[in-house]
Amino acid sequence: MQVKKAVIPAAGLGTRFLPATKAIPKELLPVVNKPVIQYVVEEAVAAGIVEAIFVVSSGKSAILDHFDYLFEIEETLRQRGKKDLLREMETLHELASIISVRQKKPLGLGHAILTAKDVVGDQPFAVLLGDDLIDSKVPCIRQMIDVYEKTGAAVVGVMEVPPSDVPLYGIVKGVQEGPRLLRVDAMVEKPSVAEAPSNLAIVGRYVLPPSIFEAIEKTKPGKGGEIQITDALAQLARDKGVVAYQFEGDRYDVGDRVGFLLANAVFGLRDPQLRDRFRSALKALLEKSQEG
Ligand code: UTP
Repeated sequence: MQVKKAVIPAAGLGTRFLPATKAIPKELLPVVNKPVIQYVVEEAVAAGIVEAIFVVSSGKSAILDHFDYLFEIEETLRQRGKKDLLREMETLHELASIISVRQKKPLGLGHAILTAKDVVGDQPFAVLLGDDLIDSKVPCIRQMIDVYEKTGAAVVGVMEVPPSDVPLYGIVKGVQEGPRLLRVDAMVEKPSVAEAPSNLAIVGRYVLPPSIFEAIEKTKPGKGGEIQITDALAQLARDKGVVAYQFEGDRYDVGDRVGFLLANAVFGLRDPQLRDRFRSALKALLEKSQEG
């Protein structure tokens, strides 16, 4: 069965980015002039997803507004003859069919995914975290859907992280099954460096079979008192099998301050309208900071 639906969890608290995220959802933090979640939805659509299911919570409805039709703005752009900007705005609400579900309490990523159970139904689906930007030639989630179509197993997107970052992630270990592909035999959420079975970290992309919902329902709160998707996946790995795919591309955690700054630098240096001005300003800034 083809993967046509994507769950986009965006109901977290964003405490690492306070106070910016007190009134603004972290998924709306801009990377140059687009909120991070727009890049995420564009990745999903480029991969063939037609329905985006946002998991939101109170205070996060601005995310839904961002993908909505806004008469006043579009009419003003039309009257002012700003055709390019108008087209960009129109593309935004034509991107995908948008559905929202609410996570009433931030009980963890596993719990957030479970809230989408009825909307997903009995079919495989993609999960893209709303604050995780992956810059790649082939959309990361497309690479992973291809793996799902070949293996029929749940796929987690992984990348190597430095040892100091291991305690921040779900970490996997497995047996090599193909290029960039491991059959997972161990999975631990946020281990200490000593406990970690490897330095391969699960980042914000998954392709999951509907049987994950039953696994989440059986999962007890784990690290931080949250229902962790890694714990549900560890159970799935034992019962039905999970593969880990080292995707091709660069990942920026925009919910982390350094990740946010890096993503802005990379996308700013690539923007044809900004790059020359930005590069020389950045160069001057670096020279000045070296002098000091
Ligand atoms: P994070 O792990 O970054 O957690 O969530 P967080 O709570 O949002 O942020 P910090 O750590 O306090 O700064 C990764 C993604 O999962 C969503 C978040 O919105 C984010 O897109 N999430 C997390 C939920 O939807 N619900 C949750 O209960 C937790």
